[in-house]
Amino acid sequence: MKKDPRIKEILYSREEVENKIKELSEWVNKEYANTDELVIIGLLKGSIPFLSRLMMDVTVDMSIDFMTVSTYDGGVESSGNVKVVMDLKRDIKGKDVLIAEDIIDSGITLMQVKNQLAQRNPKSLKVLTLMDKPSGRKVKLQADKVGLKVPDKFLVGYGLDVKEKMRNLPYIAVFNKDKLKDI
Ligand code: IMP
Ligand code: MG
Repeated sequence: MKKDPRIKEILYSREEVENKIKELSEWVNKEYANTDELVIIGLLKGSIPFLSRLMMDVTVDMSIDFMTVSTYDGGVESSGNVKVVMDLKRDIKGKDVLIAEDIIDSGITLMQVKNQLAQRNPKSLKVLTLMDKPSGRKVKLQADKVGLKVPDKFLVGYGLDVKEKMRNLPYIAVFNKDKLKDI
């Protein structure tokens, strides 16, 4: 495979990511073995590759819903502002809600999403993230389950974008910031 010059280094291959997601599906199956109504909420658009893989190995009855919030505005620095661009279609009152996120960095996005969803009185509310960048944390927020702990670098692939591109890479890689102008 020809090396993509926009990429510095591949951190996790497709196989490694997908094996990890399988483990996370098993965690969901155990955690929600006795649930009446599980709703997995994907934050668009980054969680799409993760959630689509995850749900295939979830064996408990579940539904999905989506929310779009904007944080990074397509750049590489966090603005700290979280705006709900598209809300859930259905009420989550009395339901077991699991937020599936691509990555937690500052924690600002999830903190605000979690606070908003908690006000709708779900039966339970948990967070599952494929990646966690603990060194980037600006607010006190922890996921209930983390797939991969990643270093404090700007990553792309498996849902993560730079200016909306490169989400489709089937691996997780460190972005070469020198190539930002070419995107
Ligand atoms: P937080 O609010 O700082 O935790 O950021 C969460 C969101 O920022 C994630 O859902 C991603 O969409 C985006 N993000 C954080 N780190 C990266 C990265 O390394 N590459 C691409 N997007 C990222
Ligand atoms: Mg995201």
